[in-house]
Amino acid sequence: MIDTNTTSHGKWSSRFAYILAATGSAVGLGNIWKFPYITGENGGGAFVLVYLLCVLLIGIPIMMAETLLGRRSQKNPIEAMELLTKEANADSNWHYLGWMGVIAGLLILSYYSVIAGWSSAYILKAFSGSFIDADALAIKSIFNDFIASPVKLVFWHTLFMLATMWIVVKGINNGLEKAVQYLMPVLFVLMFLLVAYAMTTGDNYFKGLHFLFSPDFSKLTSNSVLTAMGHAFFTLSLGMGAIMVYGSYLSKDISISKTVFLIAGADTIVALLAGIAIFPIVFANNLHPNSGPGLIFETLPIAFGAMTGGWLMGILFFVMLAIAALTSSISLMEPAVAWLVENRGFSRQKACVWSGGVTWLLGLGTVFSFNVWENFKVFDRNIFQILDYLTANLMLPIGGFCIAIFTGWIMNAQHSEDELALPNSGYYQVWKMLISYVAPAAVFFVFLHVVGVL
Ligand code: PHE
Repeated sequence: MIDTNTTSHGKWSSRFAYILAATGSAVGLGNIWKFPYITGENGGGAFVLVYLLCVLLIGIPIMMAETLLGRRSQKNPIEAMELLTKEANADSNWHYLGWMGVIAGLLILSYYSVIAGWSSAYILKAFSGSFIDADALAIKSIFNDFIASPVKLVFWHTLFMLATMWIVVKGINNGLEKAVQYLMPVLFVLMFLLVAYAMTTGDNYFKGLHFLFSPDFSKLTSNSVLTAMGHAFFTLSLGMGAIMVYGSYLSKDISISKTVFLIAGADTIVALLAGIAIFPIVFANNLHPNSGPGLIFETLPIAFGAMTGGWLMGILFFVMLAIAALTSSISLMEPAVAWLVENRGFSRQKACVWSGGVTWLLGLGTVFSFNVWENFKVFDRNIFQILDYLTANLMLPIGGFCIAIFTGWIMNAQHSEDELALPNSGYYQVWKMLISYVAPAAVFFVFLHVVGVL
């Protein structure tokens, strides 16, 4: 897909290849694993509403900005920021933004790979028939036994990290392009089937819908607003250079705004379908919406165990989840690898071994936070929660804030207008207002609120 042979910096083979890769990056564990459990922990409807508003008013404009910065520079995020700062005659400190992105990507990948490992392990569990006719209690104990074993978690984490490294080394090849091409339709079909199953839970289906879509603002704390906003960045892969580096492989004749709407739309639909499938099962089995990161692993297997054809669906679902995670994890590693190759003269292999190795090691912290180190907490958070908070709630919104300021205020407006090439200047003005005022102000006010100034 990215042709890395002809020039030192590759190109997507087509518009479609780019859309697939960027959607592959956006749609992942964030939609199917994280969105439901954080919605459960943050009280449902009001949280979902804030998340949707953030996607629309902050996420989409910033995604357009990140893509245009990447495409204009045709460079990895660190060099891109160096180049664009020179072009804008701005302070050279802006290139630290590229750095923060590379670091955030590797920090996220460290725990992402552990959870993706859970999904891979669940393929085998589904295959072995463990879920058939199992009740909620049995499914919960399968999950608890699994995460209590550091050896098993390390095994699957290692396997997933190796798979990520393997694909990133190859450059993104045809195999992956094909995989994503089939994955997306299969993913949609499976999500709809799960939603159909959720509809069979009678009243609980409506309880689920009510939980997701009827906002109760009394449940909203400033930290849940921060989590919703952070998740808008996380789920769209924003604020750390993944979309920037993908944009840098994009040729000039492709419309950024159209592709961004497609990608953000698909991403949001998958998350909402996951929520609609999961909460009815939660209520039907007297489970708690706030059971945390194990939520999908404790609920969906109940459905697979009970429905006709559930054995096959369970296998397909976890295969699909693992592949969706893989198409995201490669984009978490790509900024670091592109920089090591283009700036430090590493071969792609060496760059992957280094980024993967360091990230794998860091991931052990997350593995142990579910078992041997589960009581090790700082500010009431275990290692996994610290990494998640630091990246999704702080680094990505700060990265996104800086990207908004840079594109809205520092970059020459003519340059952003040329890149976006919107059909009329009215659209450009709307984007410009969102990126210069609305997005940065929103991030800023949420932060002030969380630290208690507002
Ligand atoms: N967007 C991915 C998901 O929802 C995660 C991700 C975050 C990927 C940041 C790249 C960059 O699972």
